[in-house]
Amino acid sequence: MASTKEIITKAKTFGSHNYAPFDLVLVRGEGSRVWDPEGREYLDLLGGYSALNHGHRHPKIIAAAHAQLDQISVVARCFLNEPLAEMAETLVKLSGLDRVMPMNSGAEAVESAIKVVRAWGVRKKGLAPHRAQIITCDNNFHGRTTTVVSFSSEPQYREQFGPLTPGFVHIPFGDAAALERAITDDTVAFLGEPIQGEGGIVVPPDGWMAQVREICTRRNIALIWDEVQTGLGRTGKVFCWQHENAQPDVLTLGKALGGGIMPVSACVGKREFMDAIHPGEHGSTFGGSPLAMTIGKAALDVLVDEKLSERAAELGPKAMQRIRDAKIPGILEVRGRGMLIGIELDPALGGAHKLCEMLIENGVLTKETRKHVLRLAPPLVISEAELMKGVDITLATIRQMAAQAQQPHASL
Ligand SMILES: Cc1ncc(COP(=O)(O)O)c(C=O)c1O
Repeated sequence: MASTKEIITKAKTFGSHNYAPFDLVLVRGEGSRVWDPEGREYLDLLGGYSALNHGHRHPKIIAAAHAQLDQISVVARCFLNEPLAEMAETLVKLSGLDRVMPMNSGAEAVESAIKVVRAWGVRKKGLAPHRAQIITCDNNFHGRTTTVVSFSSEPQYREQFGPLTPGFVHIPFGDAAALERAITDDTVAFLGEPIQGEGGIVVPPDGWMAQVREICTRRNIALIWDEVQTGLGRTGKVFCWQHENAQPDVLTLGKALGGGIMPVSACVGKREFMDAIHPGEHGSTFGGSPLAMTIGKAALDVLVDEKLSERAAELGPKAMQRIRDAKIPGILEVRGRGMLIGIELDPALGGAHKLCEMLIENGVLTKETRKHVLRLAPPLVISEAELMKGVDITLATIRQMAAQAQQPHASL
């Protein structure tokens, strides 16, 4: 096997530079542990940005994938396949919604939801074509496609990529009164994350999701929750909206729906909304393939059978308490829900990216979200002992960083 150095050189020479990865190559993973080419072991507290809720190489999901590979993997969508039917039924029963539109990436699921509510606006609500407005939140993250970055409030994600798609307005996150005020005759939907993940693990005020649900119903606009990151157990419920019984009309899922094996996403919704799109108006070559759907169904079954949501609800608060109890002056706030945790650092420490580099040295993998927030999103299968070990290493590393920041000539 090539060395870390050789792989980095080749990747940087031939790969595009739209990421600036750490100098770390991973070649093997199991549960919440991963290894580099030299055999060094790391504890994974990032969990693939929530794509690895089931951990690396979950044996039941791998077995289901192997069995399906021996049957049939890809079927053109002009034919049907059994895993698609099975996975759709499972997801409908879990969500209480009616129909599943399978896609591949999270951004595609969001694009699908946008098309669904725009079609609903014209066909069911009686809006003139090309007028639909969707209300989104400041500081959102919904993916990287051209339409999706059109309503990003982050200039870096948007500014070089115009002309942008019109039809989106912004309100402050967590502000129900602002939603009420922003609705016009052209509004078809509100689109939001139940907790802003990439935006810095921002938790809205209690009751906000339920208020949003009530407003959308009363004003006859669709509610889209983007649960690509918060969904499938991460926050302590299968879906984050279940904390406030704020069921959406349209739901987007991705990341963990792929069971840590391959990209699988879905736009799921109530019949009235999903049926606004007619045959031929939307689709995806690989979305709904037998292999993807087998893996998606296995991921949902494992989530339920192994009580991953309950694990997140139990272990996440314990981890947060341990971090708070450490009372490290460099930590300004600890926030989150379930196992989606943000640690807000004092800017004087020198930034969360630097902390992540030091954590790699100490054998723990995480990633910053925004400049001064460290994100912990461990696989939900992690044992309590492993999680607490990872938390303790993280705390020790923050102390180490704080000590360096206090030295007059420290180069952070
Ligand atoms: C809430 C949310 N929506 C959509 C996406 C985009 O998913 P993908 O990168 O699979 O396109 C992400 C990714 O981080 C996300 O957090």
